[in-house]
Amino acid sequence: MKGIILAGGSGTRLYPLTVAVSKQLLPVYDKPMIYYPLSTLMLAGIREILIITTPHDQTAFKNLLGDGSALGCKFEYAIQEHPNGLAEAFIIGADFIGTDSVALILGDNIFYGSGLSKMLQDHTQIEGGAIFAYRVKDPNRYGVVEFDSDGTVLSIEEKPQVPKSKYAIPGLYFFDNRVVDFAKEVEPSDRGEVEITSIQNKYLELGELKVGIMNRGMTWFDTGTIDSLNEATDFVKAIEHRQQYKIGCIEEVALLMNYISTKKVQAIASNYGKSAYGNYLKTLVE
Ligand code: G1P
Repeated sequence: MKGIILAGGSGTRLYPLTVAVSKQLLPVYDKPMIYYPLSTLMLAGIREILIITTPHDQTAFKNLLGDGSALGCKFEYAIQEHPNGLAEAFIIGADFIGTDSVALILGDNIFYGSGLSKMLQDHTQIEGGAIFAYRVKDPNRYGVVEFDSDGTVLSIEEKPQVPKSKYAIPGLYFFDNRVVDFAKEVEPSDRGEVEITSIQNKYLELGELKVGIMNRGMTWFDTGTIDSLNEATDFVKAIEHRQQYKIGCIEEVALLMNYISTKKVQAIASNYGKSAYGNYLKTLVE
């Protein structure tokens, strides 16, 4: 399975923070935002990852993450010229995906919780599509999934004014290879975007969409607004202080997944000087 991180968009809801800096490079506590979705894909066992950015931000992402070899992965880069919608990621990434299945994660989505790795790894042999549902207080900000009392999916709607349930669809999607063709067929919505919900509805019509509930023990943040960005920072800070484990530490995940040796972690740590992050990497290899 291949992975795509969509880190485009203009981040206007975070202005002036994002006038000169990509949203997905802003700090969420002690590391750049993109480390979190990247570590999520890595935990799923995905090592070939396409990072899609705006034209002017690509260099900064390359400076940060390189070709992925330092993490035992392979990163490629592509550009989304305009924020035309999430489903465009599969068109931009068509050659990269080739004949494989693909996981898409949004560059501003953070997942954390016990059982996350297993849940992710269970989806890497996908036939059809798989998405998740997570209860939130403000579902109208998201894609919303409606279930009947047996748990059968009745509808999926993008940012409905009157949501039919409290269940938002987090920005993490697993699809088989047909997604590339389905994405090409999607008509832009009223807001002018090729919506990811159209793809989900296509798989739903075919009876091939699985929806897993992320229960209350799982944490999901979308960090697209100033309050959610700060809430995510507070959350990561609280957990990291309490446990002295880091969330979203890509070198630690690479080590745990046996993508790299302790030597490589040591080399990165020595480049990070006296930072707390660098010191944490040192403790991992000691
Ligand atoms: C997008 C999707 C939406 C999904 C959300 C998750 O919304 O369109 O279906 O629930 O991401 O973060 P956007 O971030 O484009 O507003």
